[in-house]
Amino acid sequence: MSRMTAPHLSRMGTAVQESATLRRAARARELRAAGREIYNFTVGEPDYPTPDVVLAAAHRAIDEGHTRYTATAGTPDLRAAVAEHYSARHRVPWRASQVMVSAGAKQVLWNALAATVDPGDEVVLIAPYWTSYLAYVQILGGTPRILRPPRERNYKALGQDLRTVLGPRTRAVLFNNPVNPTGAVYSEAELRDLFEPIVDSDVWAVSDEIYERLVFEGEHHSPLQIYPELQDRFVVATGASKSFAMTGWRIGFGLGPESVVRSMISLQSHITGNPNSVAQRAALAALSVTDAQLEPMRRHFRERCDVALEVLATLPELRCTRPEGTFYLFLEVDAFFGEWSDGQRIDDCEGLADHLLEKHGIAVVPGTAFDHEGGVRVSCTLSPDEIRRGLGILVEALRQRS
Ligand SMILES: Cc1ncc(COP(=O)(O)O)c(C=O)c1O
Repeated sequence: MSRMTAPHLSRMGTAVQESATLRRAARARELRAAGREIYNFTVGEPDYPTPDVVLAAAHRAIDEGHTRYTATAGTPDLRAAVAEHYSARHRVPWRASQVMVSAGAKQVLWNALAATVDPGDEVVLIAPYWTSYLAYVQILGGTPRILRPPRERNYKALGQDLRTVLGPRTRAVLFNNPVNPTGAVYSEAELRDLFEPIVDSDVWAVSDEIYERLVFEGEHHSPLQIYPELQDRFVVATGASKSFAMTGWRIGFGLGPESVVRSMISLQSHITGNPNSVAQRAALAALSVTDAQLEPMRRHFRERCDVALEVLATLPELRCTRPEGTFYLFLEVDAFFGEWSDGQRIDDCEGLADHLLEKHGIAVVPGTAFDHEGGVRVSCTLSPDEIRRGLGILVEALRQRS
């Protein structure tokens, strides 16, 4: 007997699609495996080695037998070290009980939103925003309230923008600084302005600070440094992935009031349990790496972004704001939509990204992945030579727009 209907998938199971960034990176790998020369500018991770002290700590952890379950929230020594480290960075006191360790900042963000957002609650996002934020809200049945600051401000939101969307149904503001995909970094004054309406409200601030070490000029500021009184409604999501070139180790840190951290731990206890035991020992060692030791990595990405900007500047119609941090450039490509000299039409950034990849071997992430139609993201995590060659091809390809 044949079935009449497809097997049931749940609301959550159908709420979102696979991450667009990962999907395009997979297509780039597929084409490369088929023998094509591909310049892959989609990769969202440092092309930088994990520090030696971290590798040594991981070897030691295995030799010493740290191979079993740990406490769900992370080992007590790692939680204590995270609390100490971020008390100094944020200039507010954190206790170990206000810290949890997860499988990357991704899981911290998920835990934080799952612990605070009910179906129908509004969550404020600032576009363009990292691809998974909307997915979290959709899976939870929340309602996204999306701010769209203008390009002229490098898409940074102001306090007055935020005031227009905060209301009785707002549960949380999901904020990212430095920003993926634009590379923008909010200054202390900009944070003071943006967070002022949050101080006057009772919403949660969930602050994704995963790129905190990748700021090119001056220091990274957490909004907490400016408004310490927010600490009882503030969750920080960060971790080892980008700061210490440890994306594969899957270690994120969540810091927040004990009530929410307790809920986040309960959720994690049923879903994944503790983060990897060996990686936790490695992350403990990473926290001893100083800013001075990380300086070469920061310089490495800054120089690569500069090389990229130099090539892109040869095509004046291609606008791109100099990034203030991260390793991303966000190119404004809407000037290239329309009729091309070979007769084809390209009407959106998806079409443009497909064309660049399939015809020219240049993989970029279309702005739709970040809820912004007119741009594409370029990751400067290739060698300077590859950046020169790859973006040279991109510039030549864009010249074919008639
Ligand atoms: C803005 C942002 N937040 C969070 C993450 C996830 O970090 P992790 O790899 O630690 O889960 C990423 C990764 O690309 C990111 O770009």
